[in-house]
Amino acid sequence: MAKLLTIQGGKPLQGEVHVRGAKNLVPKSMVASLLGSEPSELHNVPEIKDVDIVTNLLTIHGVKVDRDAASGVMTLDPRETYSAEHSAIDTHAGDSRIPILFCGPLMHKNGEAFIPDLGGCRIGDRPINYHLEVLRNFGAVVDKRATGIHISAPKGLRGAKLELPFPSVGATEQVLLTAVLAEGITELKNSAVEPEIHDLIAILQQMGAIITVYTDRTIRIEGVSRLSGFRHRSIPDRNETASWASAALVTEGDIYVRGAAQRDLTAFLNTYRKIGGEFEVDEEGMRFWHAGEPLKPLVLETDVHPGFMTDWQQPMVVALTQANGVSIVHETVYENRFGFTQALTRMGASIQLHRECLGSNPCRFGQRNFLHSAVISGPSKLTGADIDIPDLRGGFSHLIAALAAKGTSNVTGIEIISRGYEYFIDKIAGLGADISISER
Ligand code: EPU
Repeated sequence: MAKLLTIQGGKPLQGEVHVRGAKNLVPKSMVASLLGSEPSELHNVPEIKDVDIVTNLLTIHGVKVDRDAASGVMTLDPRETYSAEHSAIDTHAGDSRIPILFCGPLMHKNGEAFIPDLGGCRIGDRPINYHLEVLRNFGAVVDKRATGIHISAPKGLRGAKLELPFPSVGATEQVLLTAVLAEGITELKNSAVEPEIHDLIAILQQMGAIITVYTDRTIRIEGVSRLSGFRHRSIPDRNETASWASAALVTEGDIYVRGAAQRDLTAFLNTYRKIGGEFEVDEEGMRFWHAGEPLKPLVLETDVHPGFMTDWQQPMVVALTQANGVSIVHETVYENRFGFTQALTRMGASIQLHRECLGSNPCRFGQRNFLHSAVISGPSKLTGADIDIPDLRGGFSHLIAALAAKGTSNVTGIEIISRGYEYFIDKIAGLGADISISER
């Protein structure tokens, strides 16, 4: 039965939450373990659905995965991997986008891979053309079928000279996970350089890979014939940290995020300070709070790292509905990442969407028909509403809007949020929110 979350809004969120390993790194490091000839050990693993999905996928390919939820320690033993039944793989169709990253490791291990239809958040088309293009360049043969993709490497995988049309995180990971055991040298231009990519490189380097990152977004990988295991502690989830920081701002609260690290949040923290949020840092985490003064509007553009990340945009838009004046947000990474604003508008926010690039830099969506710029006028009084969660980050932004709003909100689709936020119901309850859960 589906769960219904009922929120009585209007209480500031106050207290402490604990953030563990990054959703956008941990499942990928689990995939990396497949490349090893020895077991790996991963620390700081959160209890999120993407970790469950990758655990299941690894298990059906013969990897022994042991995990202690409380300590966050996971061991992965890939010494007896085999090709899984297509029907077993297919049960994961539509669950997540991570399965596409199994292509390289499974081809190295078993000579072939079958990838089910992908899932993930509905925030645009989310094509996989870059992934398939780079794999073909390594020598893979791609056979698209109705149920998924069969991919094989009859002549083995060979290093290649590659360039991405856009610095895609997933496609960069695809190249790394394929090139490390490919024959010869791979050079990838216009690669993503997100902190999660650097953490994945650290893992692969521990396993024996030879990877050089240049300052111009070029990554060079010298293929090796064998990789061992790794022992690694994931970087903390900077997107979850930014979400709680915005929640403190929106609800006029004060939240200490244990486990948070300042380093990979530079662009977020600059914006947080400009809008009027306060933060402080200690050895164990970071504290975020509303300074008491009216929030200030601003002009914001999402970008690839080191810019303001697209996953920080949605909770920040909720904060901007409370700022005193007109703000502009230009989304340049995904063409369709403002769908969540419809619910905010129903709650009383004033948000207009535009097809034009309303930022300083025209982006690749500019001359096309996508509502990818938002004009937000504040401050707006938010009132409770019935909400069906559309995607992970948009869904979290709905939650914090409902927590700040006057009156009752009934929220469905909350399972989507557990894809990326562990124990989020317990966390908001622990911060003093007035909530209840029922089945419907
Ligand atoms: N793109 C293509 N073709 C491809 C791949 C990507 O056109 O083959 C486009 C996408 O449509 C998008 C842009 O390139 O417009 C960037 O996509 P990217 O490949 O960088 O995204 P991703 O790897 O699919 C990861 C995160 C996202 C995060 C983005 C950007 C994971 C599992 N997901 O997605 O996280 O927004 O990078 O940093 O790591 C989230 O956490 O809620 C989330 C969506």
